[in-house]
Amino acid sequence: MEAPPLVVFAMSSPFVQAVGTCLFAAVLYLLFAVRRSALSRTSLPLPPGPDDAWYSPGERAPIKLAELADIYGPVVCFRRGKQILCVINRVQAANEILQKHGAETVDRPRFIAAGEIMAGGMRTLLVGAGDRIRKLRRALLSQMQPSVAAQYQPIQMKNAKTYILDVLTDPDSHVAHARRYAASLVMSMTYGKTEPTYFTDPEVQEMALHGTRFGKVVRIGAHVVDNYPILRYVPFVTATLRKWHREELQLFNSLVDGVRNKMENHTAQPCFVTYLLERQQEFGLTDNELGYLAGSMFGAGSDTSASAISFVAMAAAMFPEEADKVREQLDAVVGRDRLPTFEDMKLLPRVTAFFWETYRWRPVSWGGFAHRAMKDILWNGYVIPKGTAIIGNHWGIRQDPDAYPEPLKFKHERWLNENGNLRDDMSYCNFGFGRRVCVGQHVANNSLYINTALLLWAFNITENPKAPIDTMNFTDTANVRPLPFKAIFEPRMDNLQDIIEAHLG
Ligand SMILES: *[C@@H]1O[C@H](CO)[C@@H](O)[C@H](O)[C@H]1NC(C)=O
Ligand SMILES: *[C@@H]1O[C@H](CO)[C@@H](O)[C@H](O)[C@H]1NC(C)=O
Ligand SMILES: *[C@@H]1O[C@H](CO)[C@@H](O)[C@H](O)[C@H]1NC(C)=O
Ligand SMILES: *[C@@H]1O[C@H](CO)[C@@H](O)[C@H](O)[C@H]1NC(C)=O
Repeated sequence: MEAPPLVVFAMSSPFVQAVGTCLFAAVLYLLFAVRRSALSRTSLPLPPGPDDAWYSPGERAPIKLAELADIYGPVVCFRRGKQILCVINRVQAANEILQKHGAETVDRPRFIAAGEIMAGGMRTLLVGAGDRIRKLRRALLSQMQPSVAAQYQPIQMKNAKTYILDVLTDPDSHVAHARRYAASLVMSMTYGKTEPTYFTDPEVQEMALHGTRFGKVVRIGAHVVDNYPILRYVPFVTATLRKWHREELQLFNSLVDGVRNKMENHTAQPCFVTYLLERQQEFGLTDNELGYLAGSMFGAGSDTSASAISFVAMAAAMFPEEADKVREQLDAVVGRDRLPTFEDMKLLPRVTAFFWETYRWRPVSWGGFAHRAMKDILWNGYVIPKGTAIIGNHWGIRQDPDAYPEPLKFKHERWLNENGNLRDDMSYCNFGFGRRVCVGQHVANNSLYINTALLLWAFNITENPKAPIDTMNFTDTANVRPLPFKAIFEPRMDNLQDIIEAHLG
């Protein structure tokens, strides 16, 4: 006998009826489960936000996202397809959500283009919660904590003096000089480079190129695979990203190999990479992880510090009366016959206040980097559901009128108390939030301190009426970079060059 046609078999078989019953039960169960989870979640609403399934802030997103606060309040939620995004634009909410829930927001959302493909999942900034981020941050922290950071001060001082000399000789290129400062510092800290590192060095150029590529791709929704993950399996869509990853990895590994070779013949300068190579097993790092850990120092620490230094110069030119108050303190504490040093830091609170206010006025990581909620987070009668990408939008947060009255005004004194010392009750948050706060912040603060002190001590800086400064002329990248701008740098002492060279050491 012929077997019955499949269809008939399917209709009549008791087996299929059983399957059907099971299916029915499963659907019921699913409906119930969805309803239950929907209930547990939607008993509290999402924070309000644009009601558009594909809301996109477009270009210069941090500014657009900051404006949403005026409409929807301090915390704004919206969807991009299935992903919920939550943007925080105020200090208190950032503290309540990202600081207080540090353990539940340590994760990152998936950065498919910039993290998984372009960095092979190894760029510390974007690695999600888990063992890898713990070991990477442990290795970084061991070399970036305050006591170790202090050991870099002599290199920072030396390079900052070079920055001042460069500005003296060629003031119009001051933005490039700041980048040279930062590149040189990172290359000596990381790879023990002793020869001066100029921005035209091929290695530094290549590092900067990778940084620029990364800065473009990492912006939320900038690459199509982040919106449509399935496309990552279409080779031509990701070909460029994969090529960039190969090139970057090769550069990072070749720099480490250079140090390794020098270690073998005992000519290596102690640096971050010698430290890591000596403890590679203890930290449990693969060669590629080690290469990325070191290489990421450039991306994380070079352009960011350089941009902040140039914003200090910009602020000094735009707000000369503010800078003059810092100079009064410099004159009183340091005088004009010697250079300000790290030892003067405690006596120069205005210097620190000036760069802190610059951090606030023009935050470099202006949009912040997204965290991911690992649990439902309840806040103020709302729920931020598990899986939400939470963005601490520095541009918005730093213009919070409650935390920083008259936020659009540059006022370094907002950071000082009535005794003229630094306030300790001010919310700071320049370096991210919770457990993802930037491990390089001590080194970065020290760079900003010494360059601000020297710059304001050495020069009267003013805007050139023939070349007005557009203070919003910076790149639309994750870490912004001010485009070259001109200012008048007038030396405050006739023998500036001699004083600096006498102390060049
Ligand atoms: C040690 O190795 C480095 C890198 O390979 C090389 O440039 C240098 O000349 C070597 N020095 C000595 C003393 O062998
Ligand atoms: C950097 O500045 C912030 C602001 O208060 C502070 O939290 C951090 O400790 C500072 N680090 C150093 C080394 O000054
Ligand atoms: C921005 O900076 C670039 C580079 O210095 C310059 O060419 C351009 O004119 C500037 N734009 C504005 C609006 O100032
Ligand atoms: C610097 O500026 C101050 C006032 O802001 C002025 O009194 C002083 O003469 C200037 N110094 C130099 C060397 O130009």
